[in-house]
Amino acid sequence: MGSIKQSGHIVSVLIFSLLLYSSMAQSSSNSYDPESLEALFQSYANKTLSRHHTGYLYNISLPSNFTTVQVSVVRIRSGTFWARGANFSFFRIPTRVIARPYTKRIAIVYDNLGNLSSHYYQVPNHSLVAPVVGFIGYDASNLSALGNEKLTFSVMGDPILISFPQIVLEDKNVTPKCVKFGADGSVEFSNVTQPNICATQGSGHFSVVMASPPPEKEEKHWKRWVVGFVGGFFGLILFIVVGVAVFMVMRKKKIIEMENETEKGVAFDTLWIGRSRLPAASMMRTQPVLEHDYVA
Ligand SMILES: *[C@@H]1O[C@H](CO)[C@@H](O)[C@H](O)[C@H]1NC(C)=O
Ligand SMILES: *[C@@H]1O[C@H](CO)[C@@H](O)[C@H](O)[C@H]1NC(C)=O
Ligand SMILES: *[C@@H]1O[C@H](CO)[C@@H](O)[C@H](O)[C@H]1NC(C)=O
Ligand SMILES: *[C@@H]1O[C@H](CO)[C@@H](O)[C@H](O)[C@H]1NC(C)=O
Ligand SMILES: *[C@@H]1O[C@H](CO)[C@@H](O)[C@H](O)[C@H]1NC(C)=O
Ligand SMILES: *[C@@H]1O[C@H](CO)[C@@H](O)[C@H](O)[C@H]1NC(C)=O
Ligand SMILES: *[C@@H]1O[C@H](CO)[C@@H](O)[C@H](O)[C@H]1NC(C)=O
Ligand SMILES: *[C@@H]1O[C@H](CO)[C@@H](O)[C@H](O)[C@H]1NC(C)=O
Repeated sequence: MGSIKQSGHIVSVLIFSLLLYSSMAQSSSNSYDPESLEALFQSYANKTLSRHHTGYLYNISLPSNFTTVQVSVVRIRSGTFWARGANFSFFRIPTRVIARPYTKRIAIVYDNLGNLSSHYYQVPNHSLVAPVVGFIGYDASNLSALGNEKLTFSVMGDPILISFPQIVLEDKNVTPKCVKFGADGSVEFSNVTQPNICATQGSGHFSVVMASPPPEKEEKHWKRWVVGFVGGFFGLILFIVVGVAVFMVMRKKKIIEMENETEKGVAFDTLWIGRSRLPAASMMRTQPVLEHDYVA
């Protein structure tokens, strides 16, 4: 019985590790959705904006797992926005920019994704050398509720300028490029205007990238194959070991059950003597007595 219990333990440990393995495999393929992030920022801005004054930038506090992400919001009258622009966060929106559709007031939600940038935005064959920053406009005519629809901006004069907080260039010979991330996952490239400044004609999310050298890419590809293969191989082995262990435990259980059956069978074995049925065991007990008598 002890060995059965032990194999039971082994099986449960193996099953547990198999589950752990599959959950790990799942979490590594987890995808980060920029759209849901925007919606999260919008709802936090909506909650805080009603308590705040028009014309001032306010920081928004996010859930604790977004500590390195910075989000702020400002509400501006449309007339003021047209006449003076908006100079907040990393964005310098000049005069003569129109927000459509027309609303009495607009709210601009700014964000800096910090070290989560590359989790939400990637550029094929390039690496980010600056955090992803963005701004999105919403209708703020109603002082107590932000509109659902994003506003679109049209630049009549100078472009909107983005000053990136820091650009980390590992290779000084490589020219960095500005990128704008489209809503459908598209990427638009443009030249850097000054060392850390990009220009744009509209709202969205932006960063600076550097072309990644191809050999490193190939190595990564190769590594992924190896990791996938080794992972799959161990998964298969684990599966087989669990299968064999379960089979062995089942077989042992069956053998013990069969042994129990045969023991019971012996106890209740019967003999037919004439027409009456006698338990065999009683015969066995009486026999030595008879033998003894015979000898005496
Ligand atoms: C908002 O947060 C940034 C970065 O953490 C900080 O530099 C700035 O002073 C804050 N602004 C306000 C109004 O709290
Ligand atoms: C933070 O936690 C929320 C749930 O509490 C989750 O939806 C979100 O994806 C998490 N964010 C990160 C960056 O892990
Ligand atoms: C915008 O703000 C920056 C600093 O935050 C300042 O250097 C710059 O002169 C301002 N530009 C305008 C047009 O107000
Ligand atoms: C981002 O930085 C914070 C604090 O430095 C750290 O706790 C967090 O794990 C980092 N997140 C990622 C995805 O690197
Ligand atoms: C990335 O680079 C590889 C080869 O280095 C090329 O085959 C692929 O088309 C590139 N992808 C994009 C989106 O440019
Ligand atoms: C403003 O929003 C609040 C909350 O959603 C709503 O109760 C109110 O009717 C809205 N006011 C106007 C003028 O639409
Ligand atoms: C903002 O909050 C109000 C309630 O306070 C709600 O009616 C409205 O739908 C919210 N808007 C967004 C865009 O979440
Ligand atoms: C970007 O810069 C390259 C040279 O560095 C130039 O050939 C190209 O025309 C520029 N593109 C734009 C849109 O200015």
